[in-house]
Amino acid sequence: MTATPIQPAASEIGILPTPPFVKGKPLVGNLLEFYRDRIGFLRKAQAEYGNTFAIQLGPRKIAILLDPDDLEAVFMKNDLTLSVGQAYKFVGTMFSPDYLYMADFEEYQEQRKVLLHAFKSEKLEPYLQAMQRELRDWMDQLGDEGEFDVVPEMSKLALHIAARAFIGEEFRMALSEEFLPLFKDLSDGAELIFPLNWPLPHLIRCKAARAKLGKMVKAVFDARQGKEDAPYDFLKYLLEARYRDDQPVPEDIRINMVLGITWGGYETTTGTMSWALIHLLQNPDFLRKTVAEIDRILGSGDTSRLDTWRELQHLLMAFWESERLEPVSDVLMRYNVQDYETGGYRIPAGWYTIVSPSITQRLPSLYTHPNAFDPSRYLDDRKEHKGHRFSQLAFGGGLHKCPGMNFAHTEMQVVIGSLLREYDLELVDPEPQKQKLAGIQRPGECLVRYRKRTPKHPAEESPHKSAGTCPFHQHGS
Ligand code: HEM
Repeated sequence: MTATPIQPAASEIGILPTPPFVKGKPLVGNLLEFYRDRIGFLRKAQAEYGNTFAIQLGPRKIAILLDPDDLEAVFMKNDLTLSVGQAYKFVGTMFSPDYLYMADFEEYQEQRKVLLHAFKSEKLEPYLQAMQRELRDWMDQLGDEGEFDVVPEMSKLALHIAARAFIGEEFRMALSEEFLPLFKDLSDGAELIFPLNWPLPHLIRCKAARAKLGKMVKAVFDARQGKEDAPYDFLKYLLEARYRDDQPVPEDIRINMVLGITWGGYETTTGTMSWALIHLLQNPDFLRKTVAEIDRILGSGDTSRLDTWRELQHLLMAFWESERLEPVSDVLMRYNVQDYETGGYRIPAGWYTIVSPSITQRLPSLYTHPNAFDPSRYLDDRKEHKGHRFSQLAFGGGLHKCPGMNFAHTEMQVVIGSLLREYDLELVDPEPQKQKLAGIQRPGECLVRYRKRTPKHPAEESPHKSAGTCPFHQHGS
């Protein structure tokens, strides 16, 4: 890792050049190419301009930073310089202008503290039951053999797990047909291109859905008040959590957090879990080792304990590799409140900044054969992910790094680990395509054929060498 450059004084930033602009059309700039295939467009521009350049999307000027050395400048600056809230303004419409990074910086830090504490590694044990319960119900209806389409099934599972873990068992059991379409309407409000005050049908539907979902969550909280014996879940945590001046978390913030976490965790986990399963099935050699480890560890360990699942290191390495190749958040954005400097360029106030995990995570300067699925790159003798602080970006980095990473990985271990333990799986379409989506990226239709495995006694399995010490810090974000 290279040393952090000494920051120039503000007066010196003023004389630095801005990054070169990629040629575009009058007025719209690069909007159409970006809209059509943003990663393809950015890769093409990278080949011509290098790792730092600028694009124009209509009136917006955007600095593109792909070199990990430049990411220190993005991820470690607080929102008074680089604002997440002003880049993702739709979050204010979907939830409230007081939710998380939409609020002022001090309030944001207060709310982030509450969330970080909720999803600390040692707090996840009760959620394991919610995950296993949903998975069991889902696998029970699979039968002995058949086919399923990966994304819709992972989406159903991720939504049910999120509903049970974050909105409570009572809500999950009474989950109405209405919830999924309402939630979809809410998600459709994640609008990055058009102004949020335009009366566009999807923005109107988003507001109506938010109002209805808010009432549903309020009713769940009301029913929970005073119920000392309710099982531990996110609701119970929020009712007991302390906020500024040791006060309880205000009701409107609790409701926004429940909806925000369900939204933040559901679509991302759906896409990530789908890619991970597909990548594993595309790589039979690594799959064989992974299944051998699953049989050995889950066959003899106590599966009601988180520690047992955490021993599944091959699975975890496969997740990291899959997230490196296909991060579902392929671009991350900030709004520049103030000028800043990076790599000898001035990035002016009023511009936006985009970082692309999809491109940076495939830089040959960080990873050998960067386009290959090779989870062994994370083993102790290679540790390629340790080459740079910002070489793994699927969960973001720095001040806004995802607080749900451990939750998501635990969920993925339970879902994919249990599936591989009980079924032989193969891809019907060996090369599924990506869906062309404006937001979270995920695979298109991808059928998997499954057949119940004939149980083997662990002693029948060939002895399998463990992967060594855990290559990642699962125990803290
Ligand atoms: C595999 C699944 C997931 C992926 C790939 C993912 C990815 C990300 C990324 C890239 C960011 C940073 C965005 C940025 O810097 O612009 C982020 C932030 C966030 N994620 Fe996740 N996430 C996942 C699951 C979850 C889960 C399960 C939760 C909740 C338990 C969650 C809650 C959040 C929240 C609240 C933030 C905003 C943090 C802040 O700004 O302080 N995520 N996530």
